[in-house]
Amino acid sequence: MTSISFSARGIDDAASTNTQCAVVPIFNGSKLVPAANQLDKAAGGAIKRALELGDFSGKAGQSLMLPGAGGAKRLLLIGCGDAKKFDRSAAREFSQRVYIALNGTSAKDAILHIGDLPLKDGDSVWLLSYLARHLVAASYRYTETVSKPKSPLKLRRVVVNISGKTNIRIANAALKQGCSIGLGVNQACNLANLPGNICTPSYLAQQARKLGRGNSKLSVSVLEEKKMKELGMHSLLSVSAGSVQPAKLIVMHYKGGKASDKPYVLVGKGITFDSGGISLKPGAKMDEMKFDMGGAASVLGTMHALTDLELPLNVVAIVAAAENMPSSRATKPGDVITSMSGKTIEVLNTDAEGRLVLCDALTYAERFKPRAVIDIATLTGACVVALGAHASALYANQDELAEQLLAAGNESHDRAWRMPLWDDYQKQLNSNFADMGNIGGPGGGSITAACFLSRYAEKYHWAHLDIAGSAWNSAPKGATGRPVALLTRYLMDRAGK
Ligand code: BES
Ligand code: MN
Ligand code: ZN
Repeated sequence: MTSISFSARGIDDAASTNTQCAVVPIFNGSKLVPAANQLDKAAGGAIKRALELGDFSGKAGQSLMLPGAGGAKRLLLIGCGDAKKFDRSAAREFSQRVYIALNGTSAKDAILHIGDLPLKDGDSVWLLSYLARHLVAASYRYTETVSKPKSPLKLRRVVVNISGKTNIRIANAALKQGCSIGLGVNQACNLANLPGNICTPSYLAQQARKLGRGNSKLSVSVLEEKKMKELGMHSLLSVSAGSVQPAKLIVMHYKGGKASDKPYVLVGKGITFDSGGISLKPGAKMDEMKFDMGGAASVLGTMHALTDLELPLNVVAIVAAAENMPSSRATKPGDVITSMSGKTIEVLNTDAEGRLVLCDALTYAERFKPRAVIDIATLTGACVVALGAHASALYANQDELAEQLLAAGNESHDRAWRMPLWDDYQKQLNSNFADMGNIGGPGGGSITAACFLSRYAEKYHWAHLDIAGSAWNSAPKGATGRPVALLTRYLMDRAGK
């Protein structure tokens, strides 16, 4: 995947600096920022004339491309609204407008005269990091299985003018950080977008190995079905039983911290296609169940970002990868299986398979003596009903961990909302024939799924993100790369970055 290179510079005279596109913020009803003034003079007052015409007033959401002046081949004016109200949300809108306008041009480089704008609720590090992340993520194109892919963004180099106010080293680090997160997001999107006939459990294992190659801090091992059987992972194996694709348990060790540092463990649901199994899903939108490895994709994307950033901590990533298919060898409703923990499960619905692969992965995670375990899963349709697309559902057995994840979600605008894990819900999992059923009835489906998982996470601090609503969009169809930004932010916070 191609990317954009970013750098920060203090530019005293915007007009004398060569660029294919000078991007200038315009605030509604305020004086021009210094760079805008300089470019306006070089352009013989063209910016002020455009404002006088009244078509472009600097309202948020507006943009106007003008012919260049001085060293700039083009002038792109972006409306930023009221200067006193310029906050993170306005900056996100700015970033979006910049991308849309530049995507329509053949400009290969641009200077953003925005690096030092005062944000009401943030600082320049946040702004620079967000700009880089957003431009990289917005430039993602799916190309793998189309003969004539959408034309790529021409933009290759972005300079951000920080007019000398922010420390250059700090500014460049913020840009690099955003760029790494953007690349992690794109990696997650791309894996999730791949069709189920390409992205199988074996393919995910290959991709994990590829990530580990050439990185001395990252080692990758893959547990095959034979090994999983020996470990007693019959719950996980009950899901892959109906498929010709063998399940894989992918384990990645990132060692950026001291050998004695306990690791953070990420566990991803990697169902590369969820047909529902014998409890077959209806046909409408069944294709979207190729996205049922979105949790796994976000774990791999996060590993990508964190190796790129060389964060000084230890992280173990576990991907429970399987395909859920009906066949004469498939698990049937009513079958009872024994999980690695020894607890027995009555499989009342083979479509509630995510929790069946995750519970064994959670038991496996115990051996790493984790600081905290976070699992990420497109787990329930009920989560989509409860929260829609904007928030991931967060569950946790420890308040501090929950707070940290919520904070990371807010900071990265990849937000989560905490849901209850009360004991009251647990009895919905009661079974007459096993220690528990794998479904909890019609009410609170995302909660009872989390309750199921909580029974396998009693030995450590644990959180669960149900990303069924946030991991992909249905119109237009495509993965979002969430919650890579949240997870990376969480780990950066733990690393003190
Ligand atoms: N992968 C699905 C969850 C899902 C459904 C995500 C729709 C996004 C959109 C999961 O494996 C599943 O099928 N869950 C069932 C659970 C039920 C049988 C208790 C569901 O949500 O219907
Ligand atoms: Mn399912
Ligand atoms: Zn599923």
